[in-house]
Amino acid sequence: MSAPMTVNIGLCGLGTVGQGVWKHISANRADLESRVGVKLNLARVAVRNPRKARAVAIPATKLTTDPLAIANDPDIQIVCELMGGTTLARQVTLAALRRGKIVVSANKALICKHGAEIFAAAQKHGGHFFFEASVAGGIPIIKALREGLVANRFPRIYGILNGTCNYILTQMEDRDAPYASVLADAKRLGYAEADESLDVDGWDTAHKASVLAWLAHGVWVKTDDMIVEGISRITPADFKNAVTLGFGIKLLAVITRDLARNELCVRVHPTLLPEGNVIANVSGVFNAISVTGDVVGTTLYSGRGAGQDATASAVIGDIADAAALLKHGKGAHLIGEATAPARDESRLAPPEKIHCRYYLRLTVKDQPGVLARVASVMAKHHVSIASVIQNPAERPGAASLVLTTHESNERAMGATLKRLRGLASVLDDPLLLRIGDFND
Ligand code: NAP
Ligand code: HSE
Repeated sequence: MSAPMTVNIGLCGLGTVGQGVWKHISANRADLESRVGVKLNLARVAVRNPRKARAVAIPATKLTTDPLAIANDPDIQIVCELMGGTTLARQVTLAALRRGKIVVSANKALICKHGAEIFAAAQKHGGHFFFEASVAGGIPIIKALREGLVANRFPRIYGILNGTCNYILTQMEDRDAPYASVLADAKRLGYAEADESLDVDGWDTAHKASVLAWLAHGVWVKTDDMIVEGISRITPADFKNAVTLGFGIKLLAVITRDLARNELCVRVHPTLLPEGNVIANVSGVFNAISVTGDVVGTTLYSGRGAGQDATASAVIGDIADAAALLKHGKGAHLIGEATAPARDESRLAPPEKIHCRYYLRLTVKDQPGVLARVASVMAKHHVSIASVIQNPAERPGAASLVLTTHESNERAMGATLKRLRGLASVLDDPLLLRIGDFND
């Protein structure tokens, strides 16, 4: 019997994710190698600061501060881009693909911004780009969409795609913990992005939503064309109000496609979910995604969405696929390599076609006639009120008004908010949350 082939792997980045990949390949090497049928050689590692203390010991001979040297090294067959960012990461990815290498990436910001260029480069030069770790951490949602669910078109995909935000929201709801201290915990635990505003302002979820929308619909939706709202304005009072109304609050990505009209909508926002909804009960760093296909119906996926081990699991899954591809050749990887449906003619849904019920929290002067003025603005825009809760506000002479609406749409609510902001009796910027009437 001939000796198994050796595959040389370069890691660009040895932070939270890179160290997890090194740790778990080192710990499970024999098992992994026997499953994949090749020897996995962690040949080179690029870092910014080679003197930094790390939880894994890397021989000095393997370290470099030049990730492009790894991308261009003729002996490296698999390049793992685990640095983050979109400038150097793009250069490294394109350099490796132009040499016909396989790139494994966890970098959803890069894919959202430069995905079209990256996949074109892979195709042109015979390289391959694997990105399971870019969405939902350890959940194999990319494989599910492009392999297991390939028979389907997808009227709705929605879910929790950011572990940091779900961790923060859960801690705020369960422990009444202050936002800033919970965010600090999420950073310490390795969940948050280097720039945590990507998490809390909704951009990381938007990057992931764009990857899922592309896989499901073959269209790159720019974040500029999405509704993107984060969690930083949610207060403990909102959780209490939501519970009173029978809801939980989750930061969701919602990707809908009206198959008859061929209209696509991608949005990211904190959402009130009915308390019986499974995803409303997904806590901590866990992500969960509901995928409705026109053939299969609704399927549900859940697991750790961020952190060292969950993300390493997804990266190593891609490394194993890449090693199998190198061993067996392209035919062995036909389905995984199928990227997305051919670009279709769907168009983005206009704001008046994006419907839901809404939750509106206003801090108002506690005076006669204020509720009537608010109601009159809403009536003017044909927004129908479903319920009203009034609580005392923290500041003297003010009240907190929480209104829910019957079904309305983004255009009407946008116009309503604009008018409400102009009322002298409305004291703070109103908070508008969407209600997700999803039962599965
Ligand atoms: P991280 O802890 O900040 O690690 C980044 C690594 O890249 C560090 O080792 C850093 O070197 C290295 N690096 C940065 N700039 C470099 C440069 N110019 N030259 C050489 N090395 C450089 O980040 P992370 O959390 O592991 O995330 C990495 C990627 O995975 C990101 O795209 C992120 O979005 C994605 N991701 C993260 C998670 C998660 O839970 N953390 C989950 C899924 C996906 P030094 O160590 O010397 O500074
Ligand atoms: N910062 C991201 C999150 C990492 O919290 O979900 C996983 O992509």
